Amino acid sequence: MQRTLVLLKPDAVQRGLIGPIISRLERRGLKIVGMKLMQVSEELAYRHYGEHEGKPFFPPLISFITSGPIVAIAIEGAEAVDVVRTTMGATKPAESTPGSIRGDFGVDIGRNLIHGSDSIESAERELALFFSEDELLDYSRATDPWIAE
Ligand code: RTP
Ligand code: MG
Repeated sequence: MQRTLVLLKPDAVQRGLIGPIISRLERRGLKIVGMKLMQVSEELAYRHYGEHEGKPFFPPLISFITSGPIVAIAIEGAEAVDVVRTTMGATKPAESTPGSIRGDFGVDIGRNLIHGSDSIESAERELALFFSEDELLDYSRATDPWIAE
């Protein structure tokens, strides 16, 4: 079982897409083990997206992710890192497959609605940035055996 970090970015919150996006993650069988509405500070934004520092899109990315509330979600499931990434779709919405979140709701790379950790290592690092240990819950659902062997 893996854990990964999802962020519903400020555009998703502003457009009233929190519910529809979470529904897609839930119906895929993924389990929410932590969730909060929060404002990302400049410091947190730099730490989260630090790998992109120096790239031309970095300043607008920092200003976008800090521009309004986001929803941070800790997700658990079999192969959760890859399952979330494929459910999100490609970074550039013009290239995201229809049926994916970005492919159905987005058109612009700078307003691509959702973040998902890109590896198990990133997931561990990013979950620790957004959640304390006691905010991540361990529980089982009656449906779990019907979702993964
Ligand atoms: P994210 O980290 O937000 O989940 O997105 P990602 O893995 O699909 O893409 P990543 O390469 O990590 O880039 C982070 C965010 O930076 C913006 N970006 N703009 N204009 C550009 O060429 C460009 N490249 C990346 C996107 O908003 C992307 O989500
Ligand atoms: Mg990324």
